[in-house]
Amino acid sequence: MTVTIVGSQLGDEGKGALVDLWGGDADIVVRYQGGDNAGHTVVEDGEEYKLSLVPSGAVRDKVGVLGNGCVINPRTLFSEIDDLRERGLDPDVRLAKRAHVIMPYHRRLDNIEEEAKADSDLTVGTTGRGIGPTYEDKAGRRGIRVGDLLDPDVLRQRLEYVVPKKKALIEDVYGLEAGEECDVEALVEEYTEIGRRLREDDMAVNCGDFLAERREAGDNVMFEGAQGTLIDIDHGSYPYVTSSNPTAGGAATGTGVGPTVVGQGEVVGIVKAYLSRVGEGPMPTELKDDDREEELADFIREKGGEFGTVTGRPRRIGWLDMPMLRHAARVSGFTGIAVNHLDVLAGLDEVTVGHAYELEGEERLTMPATTERWGECEPVLKEFDTWPEVDWAAVAEEGYDAIPDAAQDYLEYLSDELDVPIYAVGVGPGREQTVHLENPFDN
Ligand code: IMP
Repeated sequence: MTVTIVGSQLGDEGKGALVDLWGGDADIVVRYQGGDNAGHTVVEDGEEYKLSLVPSGAVRDKVGVLGNGCVINPRTLFSEIDDLRERGLDPDVRLAKRAHVIMPYHRRLDNIEEEAKADSDLTVGTTGRGIGPTYEDKAGRRGIRVGDLLDPDVLRQRLEYVVPKKKALIEDVYGLEAGEECDVEALVEEYTEIGRRLREDDMAVNCGDFLAERREAGDNVMFEGAQGTLIDIDHGSYPYVTSSNPTAGGAATGTGVGPTVVGQGEVVGIVKAYLSRVGEGPMPTELKDDDREEELADFIREKGGEFGTVTGRPRRIGWLDMPMLRHAARVSGFTGIAVNHLDVLAGLDEVTVGHAYELEGEERLTMPATTERWGECEPVLKEFDTWPEVDWAAVAEEGYDAIPDAAQDYLEYLSDELDVPIYAVGVGPGREQTVHLENPFDN
């Protein structure tokens, strides 16, 4: 049995809470894309763990796998693992030998390019973690893979080819001075040592084979998507995207498990009851048009804790965007959804969703394919009855029927529009503050 968890919007939908909740029934939790641009907080036995790379299951004695679709910064990885060990845990983390490694020059170039783009108003607002430049090198067939770290000769050969090109880029194209990120000898030394540690700890695996063996032995697998559909490199609002595929197709290409296997399992879209965005790009339902909207956005931002986990940046806030969700449900083939942060909308004077868009006098239910056209869309708003603040902890305990009627109407509208059942509703920040309807591992 597999369950794939996908962000339906722009990332930060609270996927971690559901991975936590249902991950209890998984034996293995696998990330299939992205790197340390993601951020999740796991609370276990009252202890809080902030992780950006280690799959959250590793905190709970599950095997955590970083699939071949991921980009891995070993410095971040080992600092997270060492931190967990110091706190008394013994995380079992495996890395796909086919995954690409984020090198120090990737991080430097990420930041240099963002600055360069600022002059032409093309900034993406990346997390600065070197994600894009690493995927660029993967596609350019000049990347360093985890498997290369295990073989010092191969590592040296690859670095001797690629590093002078990065140095030339930094110095000749951008007119800056290259630093230690372009020192081949220092890189060979540091990354050979990392390879030694990976070997000693038996961490590098052939991901597809490893997962096939474990599945044959009867293990349940959870595929944990990072980021969200609208920052998918193919299906998102290009160029304001990350450089990987958070959508469900990524679970197959990013792990070496066939799409038929992923498709026989459950694919659960995680939806936040409103919208948030870090970084640039259109957002038709954004709350920013006047003082009243800005006040509303500030209120939701504070109440929902809408500040970037990795960068601390305040997130932009908007109403739920249904054309975006219809797009997400189709791209990933959702079999169910979980709706988070329903409590954040409680007690407002107004609850509205963007039901459709208006573009050139025509109403449309789905998103246009280009970001520029998307930016021209005006939301067609639909108002809902508001619901009051209630004791959400009690609601989580009592179940779905205890959710205020107006909020139930809101949820049912979502489920009807997307034509999928709701598996869970998040009504507070804690893991226990979730109303359970179905566990996808039981289906
Ligand atoms: P990158 O992934 O650092 O290259 O950033 C590309 C875009 O994706 C930027 O707009 C980031 O703010 C956004 N992004 C990357 N990771 C996340 C995430 O985990 N949550 C929300 N947005 C993200």
